[in-house]
Amino acid sequence: MAKAAGVCLRALAPILVAMMPVTSLALEGDAGRGKRAFQRCYSCHSVDPNEKAKLQGPSLYRIMGRPAAAISDFEYSDAMRAKAAAGLVWDATTLDRYVADPESLVPGTRMSVPLRDDRERADLIAYLALSGQYNP
Ligand code: HEC
Repeated sequence: MAKAAGVCLRALAPILVAMMPVTSLALEGDAGRGKRAFQRCYSCHSVDPNEKAKLQGPSLYRIMGRPAAAISDFEYSDAMRAKAAAGLVWDATTLDRYVADPESLVPGTRMSVPLRDDRERADLIAYLALSGQYNP
């Protein structure tokens, strides 16, 4: 019986190993769900290039590939400007870190609302990517 279980495990091992990287990869986001997750951002940010409202946060239209603090008529914090000068660019990784914990990536940032749920952030980032890459 013990032997049979051993054989069985050995047969399964390559399959288990093959499955492992999947769990360590960043979560694949769902843009449809991300649109709903954006309701957490939407009182302060817009992804509409023609947004006219004066919002508390900068536009997130084509945020992918955009350097931090790039919206010229937005009053960023000194903290965000310093990070921009140090080369911070928004991509799936930096967005994920900032939105999970704004203060840890940009100490002193004026944005204080974190979104801690990994799945929701992945969905949200997939949604933000829909407006395309930064293209000044
Ligand atoms: C209460 C208002 C508010 C909410 C809600 C909010 N933000 Fe922000 N966000 C800001 C402000 C203010 C800044 C500018 C921060 C600074 O200058 O330090 C900012 C900056 C950002 C930036 C940097 C943009 C740039 O041009 O460099 C990103 C990205 C961002 N927010 C994403 C999000 C996402 C995603 C959400 C939803 C999960 C969200 N924010 C929710 C107020 C908000």
